[in-house]
Amino acid sequence: MVHYKELGLVNSKELFKKAMEGGYAIPAYNFNNLEQLQAIITACSETRSPRILQVSKGARSYANQTMLVHMARGAVEMAKEISDPAIPIVVHLDHGDSYELCVSCIESGFSSVMIDGSHLPYEENIALTRKVADYAHQYDVSVEGELGVLAGIEEHVQHEESLYTKPEEVEDFVGRTDVDSLAISIGTSHGAYKFPPDAEIPPLRFDILEEIEKRLPGFPIVLHGASSVVPEYVEMINQYGGKLEGARGVNEDQLRQAARSAVCKVNIDSDGRLAMTGLIRKALSENPANFDPRKYLGPARDGLIELMKHKNQNVLGSAGNG
Ligand code: G3H
Ligand code: 13P
Ligand code: ZN
Repeated sequence: MVHYKELGLVNSKELFKKAMEGGYAIPAYNFNNLEQLQAIITACSETRSPRILQVSKGARSYANQTMLVHMARGAVEMAKEISDPAIPIVVHLDHGDSYELCVSCIESGFSSVMIDGSHLPYEENIALTRKVADYAHQYDVSVEGELGVLAGIEEHVQHEESLYTKPEEVEDFVGRTDVDSLAISIGTSHGAYKFPPDAEIPPLRFDILEEIEKRLPGFPIVLHGASSVVPEYVEMINQYGGKLEGARGVNEDQLRQAARSAVCKVNIDSDGRLAMTGLIRKALSENPANFDPRKYLGPARDGLIELMKHKNQNVLGSAGNG
């Protein structure tokens, strides 16, 4: 077993406490390759933002689970070199779908795990989440649970419609599972097609969030599916031969409002994917004779850094808090 402290990581406890007091949210950026990881470390160091390196089950098998531990260690060392004092880093399992996967991640050095039982019947979600929390807490690893279902794609499971979190369930769920944070469903969704293309984008259900805050005062809330699907990158993808019609995301002002509340962690994956894809398409198209991957991955990485700096500074308010 590699304990996360040996890698120089932290769990999310202190980070969430400070985020709650400071009225900002910590970015949880998904990564599965070197350039994404470099971008997260650079952007968050330059803006002095705490950061959560988020790894899905698919990303872990893509990058290789052994390689991933060394990437996390490398990220910590790189962060120390470029920011003084160093800013904390959490490595978190995104949408863990089984007890065994959570155990495996904890044993390989993750400092935080999500067990996503949101698709299960309520009592089964509680039982699975509690089992993971009991194991994780022996090692001081943070645990995120989920109540309510987001529309879109969640780890190979496609949900046509969202089922908003029922505020009347949250105290019972948190009390019986012993989770450290709770992901809720208030109108965000996964992927690049969050809302029907022709309809007006509906506002997030802040009334549900407020009711949850009343029932769980000071308890960290997590927002998944929080990409804004930046139009500039959707247009760039389409301009350079891609086909993303009607892709739309969550309004940034709504996210800023959420970040001021008990929402302490905001998950962003699709925006990074869109930026990388758009910039790689552009670079390849503008320089068709190039066959050096650094010449298209480099600009993509630079664009990702700018995107993340913008999120930290203007959307989540996490800049300057590291
Ligand atoms: O919420 C899901 C994340 O965007 C991860 O997606 O399973 O394709 O890596 P993935
Ligand atoms: P997006 O698809 O909106 O980036 O959401 C990512 C996410 O919730 C990862 O868990
Ligand atoms: Zn998610």
